[in-house]
Amino acid sequence: MKLIIANWKAYVTSAKEARTLADAVKKVKIKKDLKVVLCPPFVFLGAMGKKSAALSLGAQDMFWKEGGPYTGEVTAEMLFGVGVAYVLIGHSERRHHLGETDEMVNAKAKAALAGRLKPVVCVGEKTRDDEKSIPRAVAEQTRKAFEGIQKNRVEDVIVAYEPVWAIGTGIADTPNDALSAAIYIRKVIAEMYDQKTAMKVKVLYGGSVDVRNAAAFVNQNGIDGVLVGRASTDKREFAGILEGI
Ligand code: PGA
Repeated sequence: MKLIIANWKAYVTSAKEARTLADAVKKVKIKKDLKVVLCPPFVFLGAMGKKSAALSLGAQDMFWKEGGPYTGEVTAEMLFGVGVAYVLIGHSERRHHLGETDEMVNAKAKAALAGRLKPVVCVGEKTRDDEKSIPRAVAEQTRKAFEGIQKNRVEDVIVAYEPVWAIGTGIADTPNDALSAAIYIRKVIAEMYDQKTAMKVKVLYGGSVDVRNAAAFVNQNGIDGVLVGRASTDKREFAGILEGI
């Protein structure tokens, strides 16, 4: 099964808009081995209507504690309670604009698993100028994200390879280089656990995915789907992505 995750970020700003986008996705005949996950801003999670086997709900972030005196935070239990199944963790926009650290990412991934959510951990290098910086940054983020996660839970973690230079720039990675990164990420996980466990982890690609390039990533063996930002907030374009795969 391949995953197409729509990250609406803060592009979608009203419940009406969220509902219109969700309704448009529901009209698309989604292919059998695809699952679509819609990640609206928290406040619109309740406005998304019915889910189905092919359509799940995701959140864009969560808190790592179970609850208590943490003003403004949203916990795994709250998300699970409104029908959320997936949660983005450590998106580069949160790492860079909001100071999210590898330790927070790790704590959130563990809390998501404990709360019956599937964490989608985002990793990616900032630039690709220095050849060596790619593996180092990606390996480090991956290793830290998985630290302390029990082997039998590893397959519930999804990794999204999102090179920062490709996010929102219109310059996507090539399917070949994204595949190399996916192989590399699985190698890091294999070193921490074993090969069989690493092969069970879904690795997605994200960064300027659009209607012209989505199929090439999704249909690549070894890449288990895509995380789509901007293009997922245009109902025609996102329907085109789903139909074109
Ligand atoms: P983009 O964002 O598709 O707009 O580049 C992807 C992401 O940040 O998840």
